[in-house]
Amino acid sequence: MCGITGCVGTGEAVSCLLDGLSNLEYRGYDSAGLAVLDGDGLSVCKREGEVSELEAAVDGEFAGGSLGVGHTRWSTHGPPTDANAHPHTGCDGRVAVVHNGIIDNHERLRERLQRRGHEFRSDTDTEVVPHLVEEFLAGGADAGTAFRRAVDELSGSYAIVMVVDGVERLFATRSGSPLVLGVDDDACYLASDVPAFLEHTDRVVYLEDGDVLSVEAGEYTITDGDGYHVDRPVRTVDWTPEDAQKEGYDHYMLKEIHEQPMALRRALRGRIDAGIEVPAWLLDHPDGVPVRFVACGTSYHAALYAVELLQKRGISAQASLASEFATSPPPLVDGSVVVGVTQSGETADTLGALRRASEAGARTLAVTNVVGSTAARECDDAIFIRAGPEIGVAATKTFSSQVVTLALLAERLADADTGILQALSTVPDALQYVLDHTTAPQVARTYADASAYFFVGRGVAHSVSLEGALKLKEISYEHAEGFPAGELKHGPLALVTPETPVFAIETGDHSDRMRGTVEEVQARGAPVVAVTHPESAVAAAAETVLPIPETHPELAGLLANAQLQLLSYHTARLLDRPVDKPRNLAKSVTVE
Ligand code: F6R
Repeated sequence: MCGITGCVGTGEAVSCLLDGLSNLEYRGYDSAGLAVLDGDGLSVCKREGEVSELEAAVDGEFAGGSLGVGHTRWSTHGPPTDANAHPHTGCDGRVAVVHNGIIDNHERLRERLQRRGHEFRSDTDTEVVPHLVEEFLAGGADAGTAFRRAVDELSGSYAIVMVVDGVERLFATRSGSPLVLGVDDDACYLASDVPAFLEHTDRVVYLEDGDVLSVEAGEYTITDGDGYHVDRPVRTVDWTPEDAQKEGYDHYMLKEIHEQPMALRRALRGRIDAGIEVPAWLLDHPDGVPVRFVACGTSYHAALYAVELLQKRGISAQASLASEFATSPPPLVDGSVVVGVTQSGETADTLGALRRASEAGARTLAVTNVVGSTAARECDDAIFIRAGPEIGVAATKTFSSQVVTLALLAERLADADTGILQALSTVPDALQYVLDHTTAPQVARTYADASAYFFVGRGVAHSVSLEGALKLKEISYEHAEGFPAGELKHGPLALVTPETPVFAIETGDHSDRMRGTVEEVQARGAPVVAVTHPESAVAAAAETVLPIPETHPELAGLLANAQLQLLSYHTARLLDRPVDKPRNLAKSVTVE
């Protein structure tokens, strides 16, 4: 979704905002803009395209500024044009606003404002906000009151930051969309996500829905919707500025793939010997009541992986796509448990499903990467996956960290020791081995002209097959599908030809059946790439092998997945795709 930045007290607001926008570009990259206040008043610059287009437009035009706001957009209302880019201003240009989210009642507000003579210049829902503020300013309200009264009129989801000509403060609020405050001695920062200001400060205030902020250099006040003062704790994040930089890698995605061994060590630290901390209500939940997971995209694949691990331990479990959970909610009884798997903790579909579950009386747990995220705050409890910031739009290290965390959770809920803890402690090294010895670049070259790519597996490898296909689609734009291996013969086999390589993922416990699948597709002329231990029967039958070291079968999927991440990455490079910013996608989808 869109990314918001704001700064006050930094000196050089323009460069601070541009740096923040570059750090947030993973949240949207179809247009960008900024507004800064300086001695000459309020100046706005916005452009269709990436932040680099904005940088070029700003260059030489204006610099400095004492405070300002910036925005990088992922369009919802209106195409990506200069006019639709944020910030939006009202009629007289005194008020500039950036917004992330959707204002549901914007049409009604726009009509009312137009009847009162306001002229609109964009197709966006956001533009009603500066016009509303103008109305209240014209009625004699000060900037803070005008902002609060305008926000009172909005329904929908939003994070909004406003700057007003002649007022040395930023005004901000959130409701359903993320917004964090960074605090330094002499400066304050506002952003959709911490990486925007991590190079300046690691002290963060996570805001709650309904909070209204007035922010000046090094000082801020937070009030609730009625204007009463509220206290929010200042937390120190343990992310470093380097976490949010490419550090010599060509792409964030490649860096994050290579960070996986380190991320997994962090996810496991202190959780193997002592066991992962799990809320008592989950440990004690009634036998037979399923553990229900809700998630989207890659996180859904991690949830499917977890379902397999729980079921193997005799614990009933189900995973639902969060959007489907909202469409057809399953019957929930008191004592139901629902686990939201969401790396960002801000995905609207997942939050919606968790809220519905909670309203129906279920206990909810967030498994997330972001301390202070909406999921972490709204659920009854949270478990953190400790992956560190992930900037590449395609999720990589967060998937592995989710799987490892969910494996620890599964083992904690199990009655008996299954040996997975011992195996988990060796996984970071095994993953390092895969990264150091991968043949993915060669395999990507061999099949770069394929007409489609299919991924098949059983058990945990089924979730990996779905994830392998999603990753390839996302960043290479090639047609890819993942199937449970046993389902191929019930339809998808019709798609298999000599031009469609089939990636057979074998984790060590379904060798005979996977051998059968390999023969089925080879009989249709398809080349097979085995993603498995090189000594296995499936590897022997395949044309090519993406090898993984021997490990616990329940964890082999993680190693296979790393090979498939690299395959996607190298295929996308060969096809000259913008790996970190795939078309039409944004990292955090904060609208349903
Ligand atoms: C794919 C990807 C997405 C996300 C999905 C859910 O690479 O990143 O499919 O997994 O949008 O996001 P979170 O985990 O933040 O809820």
